[in-house]
Amino acid sequence: MFKEISNEMIKGMKYLEKLDAQDRLDGTERLKRLRQIPPETGKLITLLAANAPDGEMIEVGTSAGYSTMWLSLAAKEKQTKIHTFELLPEKIKLAKETFYQAQIEQWVHLIEGDALQNLDLINTISFCFLDCEKELYLPCWSIISSKMITGGVLIADNVISHQAALQPFINKVLNDSLFDSVIVPIGKGELICRKK
Ligand SMILES: C[S@@+](CC[C@H](N)C(=O)[O-])C[C@H]1O[C@@H](n2cnc3c(N)ncnc32)[C@H](O)[C@@H]1O
Repeated sequence: MFKEISNEMIKGMKYLEKLDAQDRLDGTERLKRLRQIPPETGKLITLLAANAPDGEMIEVGTSAGYSTMWLSLAAKEKQTKIHTFELLPEKIKLAKETFYQAQIEQWVHLIEGDALQNLDLINTISFCFLDCEKELYLPCWSIISSKMITGGVLIADNVISHQAALQPFINKVLNDSLFDSVIVPIGKGELICRKK
């Protein structure tokens, strides 16, 4: 799957990796920063997405579309789309440009606006990557977990880098008897869970 990354996507990934690194150095204000996952997290979520059962794949928190580019590889392999939710107009503009330049529009459905208001557009979920504002993790979990199919996989980012802020969410997932879950120290720390 990774061996089939197109030159256009490699170019797009390298461009966004550079912008993200710059953001972290030059004091760009928080809402404008891309706050992307690192490449190893991209590989992890893509491998898990490609192996999730058939069904709808979603991502909450598109930013400029870096993680979506990774997930589009799984979407392409499964001949489906990744539905990705983004709130901010500037990020939506950047993401559209990313998907166009990387030639992956066919595999991506960008849903504009507040994910909490729009998650109802998706009925059943087989894969979710959760990477938005930390206070949204719990409300997203209550909607998404009820829509997940058996064998469905959810990955939440930042559970080590933002452990304190995410502790109520982490406790909720780890104690949910309907899910098997584990935290892995890759990137910013990923909580991976699978519906029994
Ligand atoms: C950490 S960034 C996502 C980074 C992206 N997953 C990547 O690795 O390239 C979080 C994103 O969530 C978006 N966001 C915040 N609140 C949201 C909401 N209520 N609905 C949808 N997106 C939201 C932010 O605007 C921001 O772009």
